[in-house]
Amino acid sequence: MFVKSLVAGMAVALIAAGSALAAECSLPPDAQAGKTVSNQCKSCHEFQADKPSRPTAPNIHDIYGEKAGQRKDFPKYSEGMQGAAAKGLVWTDANIMEYLADPKAFLAKVNGKDVKHAMFFNLKDEQKRKDIIAFLKAIKGKPECN
Ligand code: HEC
Repeated sequence: MFVKSLVAGMAVALIAAGSALAAECSLPPDAQAGKTVSNQCKSCHEFQADKPSRPTAPNIHDIYGEKAGQRKDFPKYSEGMQGAAAKGLVWTDANIMEYLADPKAFLAKVNGKDVKHAMFFNLKDEQKRKDIIAFLKAIKGKPECN
């Protein structure tokens, strides 16, 4: 009787340990560096997969490889971002690199004219941009990472 409940207890403990492991996020080193960079984005952006966008900026947990300007829970996309969405812009490595360096210039280029934009932030440091892209790529589809 005692042995049986001990075994049952261990099985429960093992299952609990297993699910704790599954919920843990492991990131490659460049993505880990990008997670530190993401602290700069978090003043505006939500990175938790299941949370809605904030009034300040869209949720970007799963933005990598997606079309621009698609979050229905962020109603304040700028004219420039709406134009980019209409043109089917996708957030590839190259596009995120250019956007983060200079959002205004990038959206002007995509739209073929000067447009209003809404991300008043830029990240000039090339390595940091590469790292944040590695992070966005690594967390896509992984709600345990943010
Ligand atoms: C000061 C606030 C602020 C900060 C800081 C900020 N962003 Fe943004 N971001 C915005 C806003 C607002 C938009 C919507 C822009 C528009 O509509 O023109 C946006 C849009 C984006 C988009 C496009 C989203 C979509 O739905 O297509 C990406 C990608 C993005 N930001 C990445 C980042 C990353 C990565 C960082 C950090 C390195 C960052 N942003 C920092 C405010 C911010």
